[in-house]
Amino acid sequence: MNVLPKKRKRSLNSSLSSSSSIELDTTKLPAHVAIIMDGNGRWAKKRLLNRINGHEKGSETVRTVVRTCRQIGISYLTLYAFSTENWQRPKAEVEALMALLKKFLQSEQKEMVENNIRLRVIGQIHRLPANVRQALEQTMTATRELTGLNLILALSYGGRAEIVRMVQSVAEKIKRGIIEPDAVNEELICEHLYTLDIPDPDLLIRTSGEMRISNFLLWQIAYTELFVTTTLWPDFSKEEFLKILKDFTARVRRFGVV
Ligand code: IPE
Ligand code: IPE
Ligand code: MG
Repeated sequence: MNVLPKKRKRSLNSSLSSSSSIELDTTKLPAHVAIIMDGNGRWAKKRLLNRINGHEKGSETVRTVVRTCRQIGISYLTLYAFSTENWQRPKAEVEALMALLKKFLQSEQKEMVENNIRLRVIGQIHRLPANVRQALEQTMTATRELTGLNLILALSYGGRAEIVRMVQSVAEKIKRGIIEPDAVNEELICEHLYTLDIPDPDLLIRTSGEMRISNFLLWQIAYTELFVTTTLWPDFSKEEFLKILKDFTARVRRFGVV
């Protein structure tokens, strides 16, 4: 239940969709929202379409969610777009996803710059095709100084692979005598993850109903609030996103203390 006095609430109806009647307490919004965007394939299958059509439709949802975050003042949005395991999908699907990603970057760069959105990536970027890496570099460079919203794409990302990479770099530093084994603590571990300068997610949303993490941000979600919706990603709307954010504002986070 919301305990803040009414006057601190600001209705976002004016700046958001006119169909929306969701009143959000903007003082309690998450700083960092992470999303497992799942269900593109099932969305397509239901319509007797190709899985790739589902991914195309899903990229429109990405636009909607990014815009909404910007409008309401979310600082970090991390989107799980491609996992280390997703490389094992059929070649045609992987290629289509890569092509779609490149297209998305090219079509959105202007809007990102205009709306003060900084693009960042986490994951095994070296495994991506050269043309996708170039498009990413270009957009990241063009948006480097922007401060409104950090849009973080998890690409060829796996939580376990991230932890392996962290252990390797910490072990290397110990071997070279740069750090003592005793100096290894939670802070040092955080400094060796992709997310070194990004706060842990406050809210993790998964679409399409699966009750699992699928190797996403394993270290970082220790105290993240979880929300699973059965809506398939291409059907996920601004309205539903705002409802989930409202649910989040009413939660009590205890972090293990009383
Ligand atoms: C999410 O949708 C997109 C990626 C994982 C790249 P899916 O492609 O996993 O869709 P479903 O789970 O098969 O419906
Ligand atoms: C998780 O979805 C990965 C992304 C959303 C990029 P998957 O569809 O790959 O996960 P599983 O197979 O349902 O666990
Ligand atoms: Mg899936």
